[in-house]
Amino acid sequence: MADGPGLGTIKTTALIVAAGSGQRLGAGGPKALVELAGRPMYEWSLEACLAADLVGEVIIAIPPGSSGDFPEAEAILVDGGQARSHSVAAGLELVKTEFVLVHDAARPLVTPDLIDRSIMALDSSPEVDAVIAAAPVTDTIKSVDADGQVTGTVDRDGLRSIQTPQVFRVEALKKAIASGDLESATDDAFLIESAGGRVKVLDAPASNMKVTVRADLATAELLLSRASG
Ligand code: CTP
Ligand code: MG
Repeated sequence: MADGPGLGTIKTTALIVAAGSGQRLGAGGPKALVELAGRPMYEWSLEACLAADLVGEVIIAIPPGSSGDFPEAEAILVDGGQARSHSVAAGLELVKTEFVLVHDAARPLVTPDLIDRSIMALDSSPEVDAVIAAAPVTDTIKSVDADGQVTGTVDRDGLRSIQTPQVFRVEALKKAIASGDLESATDDAFLIESAGGRVKVLDAPASNMKVTVRADLATAELLLSRASG
């Protein structure tokens, strides 16, 4: 948490969303608590946020009533909501800084470096409301009709696969949440876009993957063991 030149002005609150039920993983409990490389999955994201220079407080949105499952958390816990954006809205109530960094507990490979670079990118882009981590699309993407007939091949250069962290100006995100369709938003930048705001991408590695299905656990464990030496 050392202050570099000028960086003290942009201390950001990190909001880790961990309140999902993990239906697609099918572990029989919340995904954030599933053990991954020796610890509950959310702890990897928490550790990265705590190690980032530009993060002050950390808030975790948890499955309602599960605070006993997050005993050691060096973070403020808040009950999440029905949809992901409801969990973000609940956490946002507690944010006192100008910027908030939203991160999925389901992305355990996030690094302090990516977190700090995301915050710095928003700080140096006064024209935008949000900066979001994004990886290039590597598959060939085609559009199809209802019969599965190919109707075209999309130019990959103009596409990105979107991740978290996503860093927002708090006032812009609050406004976007107040007027947005929280049920259908799969990320928070969508709410900013819907409200007419501006969002910029920051290049991030594909290794900052999301654990969604069972097979992702093995990949994430391998990448974590490599990252820790
Ligand atoms: N999330 C949340 N509150 C919700 C739903 C999701 O905080 N009501 C969080 C999850 O905990 C996860 C992140 O949002 O860290 C991304 O969501 P996803 O990968 O879809 O996780 P789940 O919703 O838990 O999984 P599934 O959709 O398979 O049920
Ligand atoms: Mg989900």
